[in-house]
Amino acid sequence: MQRRFMTLPRHIQEGEKLHPEATGELSAILNQMGLAAKVISLEVNKAGLVDIIGFTGDKNVHGEQVKKLDMFAHDIIIRALDHTGHFCVMASEEEEDIIHIPEKHKIGKYVILFDPLDGSSNIDANVSIGTIFSVYKRITPDDGQPGTLEDCLQPGVKQVAAGYIVYGSSTIFVYTAGHGVHGFTLDPAFGEFLLSHENIESPPVGNIYSLNEGNYKYWHPGLKKYIKHLQAWDNSKKPYKARYIGSMVADIHRNLFYGGIFMYPGDKRNPNGKLRLMYECNPMAFIVESAGGKATDGNGKRILEYQPNDLHQRVPIYIGSKEDVELVEKFISEEEVVEKD
Ligand code: AHG
Ligand code: MN
Ligand code: MN
Repeated sequence: MQRRFMTLPRHIQEGEKLHPEATGELSAILNQMGLAAKVISLEVNKAGLVDIIGFTGDKNVHGEQVKKLDMFAHDIIIRALDHTGHFCVMASEEEEDIIHIPEKHKIGKYVILFDPLDGSSNIDANVSIGTIFSVYKRITPDDGQPGTLEDCLQPGVKQVAAGYIVYGSSTIFVYTAGHGVHGFTLDPAFGEFLLSHENIESPPVGNIYSLNEGNYKYWHPGLKKYIKHLQAWDNSKKPYKARYIGSMVADIHRNLFYGGIFMYPGDKRNPNGKLRLMYECNPMAFIVESAGGKATDGNGKRILEYQPNDLHQRVPIYIGSKEDVELVEKFISEEEVVEKD
C-alpha cells in the first residue's frame, strides 16, 4: 500500500478545514514552530562539530548553567514567531520575564510559552533532547495592545495547542490542537516533516517506570512502596523496566509509545519537584491526556487544573499510561508520612 505523502503543513491545513470558523492563525503558528524545529535540529546535529557546546558562563532563572545551544534555540523560536502578528506575548524557560513583541510588529491574539531545549545537560553526550511549546488565546482584550503576564498565567486546560520535538535518532515533531496527537518525522534529505504516527494513543498500562531514583531517600513512603511493588516479580509484566534519560520530553515520548509512567515527584528537599508547570508539565500533560493518558501531581489533582501564579513555578508530576498513574496515586494516598529525623 502506498502511504499518503502527508507533510506537517498539509496535515495542519487539512485539520483546519474541519473547522470552518478557523482563521488559519493556529496553523501558521504550528508551521512556524516546524520551521524553528528544523533549524534547531540542524544545529543540534552539528553540536559536536562546531564550537557551540559548553557553558556560556551565565545561569538561567533557575540558577542552572546555561549552555549555548539553549540560548540558540530560544533565539530561533523568538525569531520564527515574533513578527507573525499572531502573538501578544511570549515566555521562555530561559527568560525571567515575559517576552514582549517588538513594537514594529502587529500584536495578535495568541500566547506561546516554551522550553527551547529540554534535557540540555545531555547535549555534550549526544543523548536525546527536545523542545516543548504551549499555545493559549489571550485573556486580555484582543485590541492590538501588548499582552501581559496575566495572559501567560492560564491553567493548562486553556491550551489550544501544544507540541514537542525530540532531537533523537531522528527528529520527530508531535502536536495536538485538541483533535488527536500526531507525530511527524523529519526527512533530513529534503528537510520536511512527514506524517509518521497518526492518532498516537497511550497504552492504558505499560511496563516502564522513569524517575530519578537517586532521590529515593527523600521520597514519600507511598512512592517508595510503589516502586518496590513494580520491581517485584509476579509472573506477568513485572518487574517493570527502569528507563530514565534525564530529558523529560524524550522519556515521556518513549513511554507514550511503549506504555509506562514518568515521574518527577515532590520530595522532602523539593516539595514541588523540579519540572516547570508552564513550559514542561502543562504542554506534556495536554498531549498525554489527548492521547488517552493521564497527568497528575500524585495527589489526585490534574496538572492541567493548576492555576499558575508564577511563570517559572514547579509542580510534582506523574504522567503516562492511565492505569499506571492511578496506581501510584493509590499507593501515595494509602501511605502515611511519618516524620523521622
Ligand atoms: P532543562 O534541560 O530544560 O533544564 O530540563 C531538564 C529537566 C528535565 O528534562 C529532566 O527530566 C530533568 O531535568 C532531569 O532532572 P534530574 O537530573 O534531577 O533527574
Ligand atoms: Mn526542560
Ligand atoms: Mn530547557
